[in-house]
Formats: sequence, C-alpha cells, structure tokens
Amino acid sequence: MKKDTILVTGGTGYIGSHTVVELQQAGYHVVIIDDLSNSNVDVLDGIERITGIRPDFVEGDCTDMAVVKDLFAKYPGIKGIINFAASKAVGESMQKPILYYRNNLNTLMNLLDMMAEHGVKGIVFSSSCTVYGEPDENPVTEAAPIKKATSPYGNTKQISEEIITDVINAGAPFKSVILRYFNPVGAHQSAEIGELPNGVPQNLIPYVTQAAMGIRKELSVFGDDYDTPDGSCIRDYINVVDLAKAHVIAVERMLEDKSEAKIEIFNLGTGVGLSVLELISAFERATGVKVPHKIVGRRAGDIEKVWANPAYANEVLGWKAETPIEDTMRSAWNWQCRLRERGIM
Ligand code: WQD
Repeated sequence: MKKDTILVTGGTGYIGSHTVVELQQAGYHVVIIDDLSNSNVDVLDGIERITGIRPDFVEGDCTDMAVVKDLFAKYPGIKGIINFAASKAVGESMQKPILYYRNNLNTLMNLLDMMAEHGVKGIVFSSSCTVYGEPDENPVTEAAPIKKATSPYGNTKQISEEIITDVINAGAPFKSVILRYFNPVGAHQSAEIGELPNGVPQNLIPYVTQAAMGIRKELSVFGDDYDTPDGSCIRDYINVVDLAKAHVIAVERMLEDKSEAKIEIFNLGTGVGLSVLELISAFERATGVKVPHKIVGRRAGDIEKVWANPAYANEVLGWKAETPIEDTMRSAWNWQCRLRERGIM
C-alpha cells in the first residue's frame, strides 16, 4: 500500500539524503526540494542506486514564496514535511549573519505558511544540540536550559523552534516534532551517499577522512587544554543512518496521530561522549589507516563538552542509536574511498 507523500527540503544534503533513503524504504513517496547551494544533484543517482526509486526533485530556493507555492501546486498530496534546508556552518554564520537569518528563517516561515491550506499534518524540524550552548551538566536532557546562542547559526535554530511553537500555539492545524541532533557522522553502508562538504571541511569527520586519504596534509586538533580527560573536546557522535531512521519514526508518529502532543522535542544522540583524540583512535583502529594530525590552538566558539541523554527518545520513540563507532568510522572511510575511485576527490 502506497504511503503518503513527504516533502524533504534540503534532501540532497548529507542528513537529508540519508533520510530520503530510509523514507523510501519505509514505503513513502518522497519529493525533494533543494537549491543545491551546498549539495550536488548527483546525490539523486546515489539514492536511486540504493533504493531503486528516484525521488521527485525540484531545484528551488524555499526563501522564495512563489517557489514554495508552485511546489505545493505541483504536489498537492504532501502530508508531511521534513525541513533540513538551512545554512549550517557555525563559522560562516559569524561572517554572514543576514544570509543565515534570511535563509534559515524565511524557509521555515514559508513552509509553515503553506501547511494549513494544503492539509499537511506535520513538520519535522532539524534542530541541533547547539541550542544548549555549553551545558551545565552532561549528559544533556531535553529539559536542559536553552543557553544564549554563540553564533547566528545556533540562534536560527533557537528562533526556528520558537516560531514553530508560536505558530502551533496560535492554533495551526498541524503538529511538529523537533529533533535536536548531536554530531551526525558516517555514511550509508553502501558508500553510495555520504558527507561531501564544499571546499575545506569545517566539520571533524570529513577532515579526518581527507587527511587519512592524503587530500589534506594533516588534521588540526583544535586544543588539548580543555577540562577533559585527554584535554580535547568531547561530543556525541551519532551515526547518520541511525539519525535518519529517527526521522521516519517522527513522521509516522505525526501522520498516524500516535501522540496527543502538538509539539514534541527529542535529543538524538548515542549517550556516549567521545573526545577528538578518542575519535581519531577509533578511526585508526577501525580502518588501519593513520590520521596525520597536530594539536593547535582552540577554535573560537567551540563548546568544551556536550553529549546526550537519549533516554526520552529511546523510550517514547522506541528508537536507539546503536551503530558502534568503529562501524561508523569504517563507513566514513569507505565513502571517502568511493569518492577517490570515482575521481571526485
Ligand atoms: C567537532 C569537534 C572541534 C574540525 C557543529 C554545529 C552543529 C552541527 C555540527 C551542523 C570540535 C573539533 C573540528 C577540525 C577539530 N552543525 N575539530 N578539527 O562544532 O561540534 O558542531 O557542527 O549540522 O550544530 O554546532 O562539530 O565537527 O565542527 O567539531 O579539532 O578540523 O571536532 O573543535 O571539538 P561541532 P565539528
């Protein structure tokens, strides 16, 4: 039985593409809209090679209401939305705040504006543990206080959550599940899709795999003088496929009215904190490949340590991030090797 149509904005991106695969394999009809500002249309080939289904695709900028109106006119049966479409580089957001506020907030408001008249039942929002800032204690639950954002990127996530809450509390006839990701890493086990940042990677794992491949001379470890066991920062690295599966559960939860709540918020993490140096060791153990690296000074704005208490998502969603970190590191390396085989990098 054909399931509902789900709109995935930013669906050719890293987390978006992995989520499209899981949605298709759960039987949903997926429509992607993406402006390709930070991804490549070839991702559609990778998705099709995995699932045998090429998603419907519209190239477009959701900050343009005319584009969003045309999209809903073309696909009148959209029942759920997963909104990934956003600019997401912390450092870049410090340099270009207006680009971040305009892109991330206008996209969300345009989508929310269309939902009622088109009978869309719910929206899953891609949020981030960055809303917690430097938590007072770890692991972090959903009850942890929201701290003042340390970047425009982080602020757009906080403001987006508030916009969704205000719109639904004003009586909008739809629901929302807000997912606060910790650090998504790894790639689909097929190595047909993965993380492919434009230019020099800002995030840790793409830099690790490019340094291991010799594309980058060495990884700079941003500081080893933090108040942590080995001095390097601690994060909760969650396998991107485990993360994608949580989105399918969230969509089903809204479309099948499994909860009375109009808005629900979940931390998506493993519950395990790993330092940068521990992650490098895990990668080397898993792949047998050395990561050339050196310790340098701290990166401005970095949180010292943050990892999730995922108990609420585990219990309420019946979901758990269980891929071992070594398997995840192997998947990231296999993806990097595939990029090399294809002459892409
Ligand atoms: C992880 C750790 C760095 C690169 C941000 C956003 C979050 C999400 C992911 C979008 C830190 C260290 C990194 C490097 C290093 N954004 N590092 N050398 O900053 O935890 O999270 O990106 O989805 O919302 O806040 O991720 O991968 O940049 O850094 O030592 O070359 O790796 O200092 O401790 P971060 P990250």
